[in-house]
Amino acid sequence: MLRKKLIAGNWKMNCLSKEGTDLAKAIAAKVKQENYNCDFLICPPFTLLSLVKKCLRGTKIALGGQDAHFAVKGAHTGDISPLMLADLGCSYTILGHSERRTDHHETNKIVCQKAIAAHAAGLKTVICIGETEAQRDEGKTIKICQDQISGSVPEDSTAKNTVIAYEPIWAIGTGKTPTAADVQEVHAAIRQALVKKLGKATAARMRILYGGSVKPGNAAELLSLPDVDGALIGGASLKVDDFIAIAKNATK
Ligand code: 13P
Repeated sequence: MLRKKLIAGNWKMNCLSKEGTDLAKAIAAKVKQENYNCDFLICPPFTLLSLVKKCLRGTKIALGGQDAHFAVKGAHTGDISPLMLADLGCSYTILGHSERRTDHHETNKIVCQKAIAAHAAGLKTVICIGETEAQRDEGKTIKICQDQISGSVPEDSTAKNTVIAYEPIWAIGTGKTPTAADVQEVHAAIRQALVKKLGKATAARMRILYGGSVKPGNAAELLSLPDVDGALIGGASLKVDDFIAIAKNATK
């Protein structure tokens, strides 16, 4: 298989200790029960990383942060460095999620700097891109995504250290999704942008996840698309049965 599917849960700013550890333990137990032919990643809030790490022991589920600073250490109150994530046992971090781009004014350039720092710290990155509803209505989706790939993905990216997540902003948490044909068209265009940026061989091996209202009911169709290599799941990743039901579609 050229690209093994990745099923990733982004817990966002959810779960206190008990809820988070219960959820992680339940997911770990289910993943151990069966032989899933996909990779798993869970990205809890920073506060739960150590606790969740313990719950995932003995499983193949990777742990990730939801953001990381571009500096290794220093005077950056409230921020977390990629080395700190690695130190806690994370192997991934999400970067450039639309909620970070909106709430914290992160630009493509900042996301790119963060990715370089994360890779230097030994982390793999899930670099998020996606258009707003207004941009889609204006027919700018592909141009926006190509620009985000060009600006947010560093030159040092490889298929091993980088995953792309296409998340149309208007589909996040809304229950709305693009049609399967639209998702495939955008993913294929993203892969073309990766060819331009990183070359054919790397682009062919780099995973491109879809995110935005992925649920058990639409996972089969989305995950069967030729350029969809997994899912970045928000709301449904907080429900063990939904998260696992989605993963079952990734193994087919
Ligand atoms: P939802 O699955 O809740 O739409 O969130 C998607 C997302 O933003 C994952 O990063």
